[in-house]
Amino acid sequence: MTKKLFIKTYGCQMNVYDSERMVEALGGAGYEEVKTPDEADMILLNTCHIREKAAEKVYSELGRFKHLKTEKPDLKIGVAGCVAQAEGAEIIARQPMVDLVVGPQSYHRLPELEAKAGQGAKALDTDFPEEDKFDHLAARPKAKRGPTAFLTVQEGCDKFCAFCVVPYTRGAEVSRPVDRIVTEARDLVERGVREITLLGQNVNAYHGAGPDGEAWSLARLIWALDKVDGLERIRFTTSHPNDMSDDLIAAHGECAKLMPYLHLPVQAGSDRILKRMNRSHTAESYIRLIERIRAARPDILISGDFIVGFPEETEDDFRDTLTLIEEVHYGTAYSFKYSARPGTPAAERATVPAEVADDRLQRLQALLTRQQRATQDAMVGRDVHVLFEREGRNPGQIVGKSEYLHAVHVTSDRIAKGDIHRVRIVESGANSLGGILAPS
Ligand code: 5AD
Ligand code: SF4
Repeated sequence: MTKKLFIKTYGCQMNVYDSERMVEALGGAGYEEVKTPDEADMILLNTCHIREKAAEKVYSELGRFKHLKTEKPDLKIGVAGCVAQAEGAEIIARQPMVDLVVGPQSYHRLPELEAKAGQGAKALDTDFPEEDKFDHLAARPKAKRGPTAFLTVQEGCDKFCAFCVVPYTRGAEVSRPVDRIVTEARDLVERGVREITLLGQNVNAYHGAGPDGEAWSLARLIWALDKVDGLERIRFTTSHPNDMSDDLIAAHGECAKLMPYLHLPVQAGSDRILKRMNRSHTAESYIRLIERIRAARPDILISGDFIVGFPEETEDDFRDTLTLIEEVHYGTAYSFKYSARPGTPAAERATVPAEVADDRLQRLQALLTRQQRATQDAMVGRDVHVLFEREGRNPGQIVGKSEYLHAVHVTSDRIAKGDIHRVRIVESGANSLGGILAPS
């Protein structure tokens, strides 16, 4: 009898990828995925620990499942991902209805954990095991899928930014071997995928073993994927400025499949704060780096991450961040109020008052929104190539992404999901662009 699994994913794209693999791992134990928690035999929350708000969401969500567990005592409830790694048995102490806790490095053991939970025991696994979870996961099933996919190539981080839990929850940097990645990419392409986003917490520090036994750079991996027939587009995220090697910068100019979009977080624009963040680069070195990337690929769209209200950030420090943003001009960006994370060095330091941080976040977001809007508006009149992914809101509308990762909608009956077409942009809306098929 098939059992039903409801999985809810929080946080970054790596969790989205992990959730897909968890569904596959539990598929071997007789589970199939369902869309609502009410019909599930097992509920799995794949969690994020990056900011306090994200971590607290898990407990409020668990509270909401309480009545389901009362109605159906056999229902299994599991917590996976980074909160599981960081809090482990603490989760079961705080929420005794949780049956199973599994960290991001051990979810290939989910079938055994599920069996243990089935016998009424609590199952906990937050090891960083010797064996590679990817080796133990069944090959991805051959079912057709949408035109875009994530593929994790690297995990963990050795950078130890003073605010960040990732080095603790995801562990040291580990890269998957080149041949496994190429095999997985080929398999995805056979199943209808045309665009792959390579994922890693610090993806451009990739140094996986190549077929020649040497450690390959991310750029070499991209060139290997460039040869996969049927794969049309390659992206990667997230990168650290210090790992933007010359070959990776050059690939942006030379590899036609590598899309002109780069997410390159800087976090702050004040050297004093960058130093306290342990970022080991300066505002100036970041700006020079962006110039070199733009020299290789002039139309590249730059995206970033920012933290405001980091401990001891003064108004002058904050203004330096605004100045850096003015200089770089971001096509899109993500910005956050600093959140003290237990166990990180910055958590020990005096914080900026919440209302000051709130005010800074608003000012920063106003500037970033203006830049994002200007970048989008500048697309009007231009031709872009859109990979179409799904139906739009209006009848006959179909939506996809341009090479710059802008959502573009077109009304036409000549477009199918998975097609790539040249589209002329005719309007710029709040969060998307409107276009028409470009005359050939
Ligand atoms: N507080 C606020 N933002 C954080 N980030 C990481 N840790 C924290 C924290 N403690 C942000 C950074 C990172 C993004 C994924 O999340 O900007 O690039
Ligand atoms: Fe966290 Fe990224 Fe810094 Fe690594 S490089 S510690 S993942 S913010």
